[in-house]
Amino acid sequence: MPKPFQILMVCLGNICRSPLAEGAMQAWIDRLGVRDRYQVDSAGTAGYHVGEQPDPRSVQVAKAHGISLNHSARQFSVEDFESFDAVLVMDRSNYTDVLRLARHEGDRKKVSLLASHEPSYGSSVLDPYYGELSGFEGVYEQVSACSQAFLQKLVTEQA
Ligand code: 4NP
Repeated sequence: MPKPFQILMVCLGNICRSPLAEGAMQAWIDRLGVRDRYQVDSAGTAGYHVGEQPDPRSVQVAKAHGISLNHSARQFSVEDFESFDAVLVMDRSNYTDVLRLARHEGDRKKVSLLASHEPSYGSSVLDPYYGELSGFEGVYEQVSACSQAFLQKLVTEQA
């Protein structure tokens, strides 16, 4: 059995967007029946919230969609380029911060904007932290659609 393909979702704090994206991607992995081939985790470019559980608004929105979030926030590090095959960032600022740590073209090639895989919702997943709960619902819809598009393409290519 080959090693599972490792996907990492990355935002700034690792408490709002990327845990929700991790939960949404895990739900697609489960629905497509490919748990033995794909694994997902999340991290933040900043260390402010390391060790914290996801924001209660992300937890609430995920729960409304039948997804339970259980993640302890951690900071992205250069070692993640060793462990992960794809690094999916939420916005341009995350993109710049992650690419700053890349050591070579092999690292850079792993990084893309999650939204680029299903651009009909916009080119980035915008930060909902200072907004209302409705913003978190919008993030969920976007990260779920983008995760589905990304995973379906991979599954087809790697069939
Ligand atoms: P996230 O949201 O990057 O989606 O987890 C944020 C969480 C915390 C902060 C900013 C964005 N903050 O400034 O503490």
